[in-house]
Amino acid sequence: MNMKKRVLSGIRATGRLHLGNYLGAIKGMLELQDNPDYENLYMVADLHTLTTPYDVEELRKNRREVIIDYLSAGLDPEKSILFQQADNPYHLELAYLFSSVMTVAKMQHLPTFKEKVKQHPENVTMALLNYPVLMAADILIYKADSVPVGLDQEPHVEVAREIARRMNQDYGTNFPEPKRFKTEGQYVPSLLGEGKMSKSVEGSFINLVDDLETIKAKIAKAPTDTGSIGGEIPKEGGVANLFTLLKLIGSDEVYNKFILDYRDKKIRYSEMKEILSDAIYKELQPIQEKRKYFETHPEIVGEIIAEGNKKAIAIARETVEEVKKKMGLL
Ligand code: TRP
Repeated sequence: MNMKKRVLSGIRATGRLHLGNYLGAIKGMLELQDNPDYENLYMVADLHTLTTPYDVEELRKNRREVIIDYLSAGLDPEKSILFQQADNPYHLELAYLFSSVMTVAKMQHLPTFKEKVKQHPENVTMALLNYPVLMAADILIYKADSVPVGLDQEPHVEVAREIARRMNQDYGTNFPEPKRFKTEGQYVPSLLGEGKMSKSVEGSFINLVDDLETIKAKIAKAPTDTGSIGGEIPKEGGVANLFTLLKLIGSDEVYNKFILDYRDKKIRYSEMKEILSDAIYKELQPIQEKRKYFETHPEIVGEIIAEGNKKAIAIARETVEEVKKKMGLL
């Protein structure tokens, strides 16, 4: 009997990953895959991509690209099960069963739902409303109790806890109440001085595949101030964001040096931006090297996915059978 606790996380297949995904989610995954107390499952949430307008050929490509990003960033198929959500039909089956214990009103009140309604008022679909229920199924189908995701996903993890409680109460299942695994980079700020780094905001992010020149050009555009204010660094805005990024990715010495420079009104943002850009590139360069390997070995990627899918399906089947029995369907 497998007594390890499980971890599950996923990233939607909506395009290439950026530094925010890496620091917020993937770093947590890397930490957990080396913890022998855990069995790790990481998927590409390709079904969740259908909840907002998308391009069919892009999705076909991206559901594989996310797996390549995982591998390039250091997720190791010997240690982590890597798979594609849509290839495991049990997720959808469990999501339907779960939808019977969640009210429409509750789903409509989630801040994440309201935000998407604002962004895409013409596309308020059943799939969008059901987004958190499918995500709960993703997590609970493996009885995972730890979920490394960014801060913005907290309302969804809360829905998973609520569904676990309801199912356990109403049907006597034994789902754990999953918790978000927090990482230092759970909130990675935008380069634009406001909000978080986000795929949907042009100019806000650095892609994992950006070269040094591109990184420098993007960081150079980040807003700052005159550097003659002094004292404590600001709590928000362009300068605050640059400091947050430097703290997440640079050395403590460098970070502290610029804090002192700011205090003493002698900060040079061009120097700080140069150092920050170099530090980011240093972190991304090995990932880019590995990516080249996987891009040129599609058969290896294919085998890893097939193997991961098989393992994930075997675990998921057991949970769905158990739930169907308890719900009177078997
Ligand atoms: N909603 C998550 C995001 O946008 C992606 C996701 C789908 C997920 N299913 C999941 C994350 C299950 C963790 C666990 O980031």
